[in-house]
Amino acid sequence: MRADELRESYIRFFVERFHIHRPSDSLVPTDDATLLFTGAGMNQFKEMLLGRGKLPFTRAVTSQKCLRTGDIPNVGRTAGHHTFFEMLGNFSFGDYFKKETITWAWEYLTKILKIDADRLRVSVYEDDQASYDIWKDEVGVPEARIHRFDAKENFWPADAPTKGPNGPCGPCSEIFYDQGPEYDCGKPDCGPDCDCDRYVELWNLVFTQFERAEGGKLTPLPSKNIDTGMGLERTLAVLNGKPNNFETELFWPIIQRIEAAARKEYERTTDVGRRMRRIADHVRAVTFCIADGVLPSNEGRGYVVRKLLRIATNDGLQLGIQHPFLHHVVDEVCKIMGSAYPEVKAREDYINKVVKKEEFKFRVTLKVGLRTLRENEATLKERGVEVLPGKILFWLHDTCGLPTEVTESSTELIVNE
Ligand code: SER
Repeated sequence: MRADELRESYIRFFVERFHIHRPSDSLVPTDDATLLFTGAGMNQFKEMLLGRGKLPFTRAVTSQKCLRTGDIPNVGRTAGHHTFFEMLGNFSFGDYFKKETITWAWEYLTKILKIDADRLRVSVYEDDQASYDIWKDEVGVPEARIHRFDAKENFWPADAPTKGPNGPCGPCSEIFYDQGPEYDCGKPDCGPDCDCDRYVELWNLVFTQFERAEGGKLTPLPSKNIDTGMGLERTLAVLNGKPNNFETELFWPIIQRIEAAARKEYERTTDVGRRMRRIADHVRAVTFCIADGVLPSNEGRGYVVRKLLRIATNDGLQLGIQHPFLHHVVDEVCKIMGSAYPEVKAREDYINKVVKKEEFKFRVTLKVGLRTLRENEATLKERGVEVLPGKILFWLHDTCGLPTEVTESSTELIVNE
């Protein structure tokens, strides 16, 4: 299945069940000053979930552009972490609740996408007997494949009761795809809550029924709501039998562009592959940010864009690419994503210019920074020091503009953040 088909089939499935198809919100949240970037499909519906919204419908479906900065250290290292990603989601504002959400999710995965039901595992919040029973009795999932987890895994936002943030929240139920024992990390307790690549989390069904206030008090919302999020890239990888998201049609042409620039072949398990995956992810994210009006700068959202471009520039240099090339990667991103998100296609030339200029400028300081790093490394190694002193890390950051991630990926010394 192609990405466009997956997006369309999801939206069609829920429109047929009387959901209103709403466009993706901008990556810069329209109505929420508490957020740096839109990180979930529910962001644009926060007021509806809190019972204060004015939209004239109670069911919605979206394919939402999301950006999460918390996963930056994992990007390229794992099969399925991204900064920018697309979240498919269906929402109910005081309309349907657990039973429809769970049974539709199962129907969509097993009947429409035709995923083998025996490969699926589900989880519920430890106290949520109602969801457990729906999975067991209505859907017929064997109990061995229904897991109960605590609030870290099965509350959204994770651990919200104890850690926050304030706002709408609730227990959730997740659906995982088992890639098989050959992906098992070997830990005796490896299961859907393990960080390894065996179980791919496809879909999170959140039963948004509380508002959290300062101190952790959960007050029931005026109505019980639904907020679901399915990772488009992960689902596409599973449907096409790809071991990681970067080998799907959403990324592969981008990787090929990077291979051509580096005159090196992609290697799944080495540093070469890791750097190529990270460049692909970061340039895709930057392309969407600039299309939504976020330009590289030294603070806030703009700094995230600058940092992602700097990490990608460094990866390019480490792959042996001697000239600015990230703007060519932008072209590939626009080609792949332009039909679903016309705003990136419409601003392609502009994005291309911004990226080219930023990479050009940073390459100059990066070379100075890396030279300084090498000199310090040599002296430190002679003295038997294994950890890069914080003051050098800071100096590289402050004077040469090297984000910690860049220093970390360019040195053999240990970098403690
Ligand atoms: N808000 C939930 C999540 O981000 C479900 O969409 O996982």
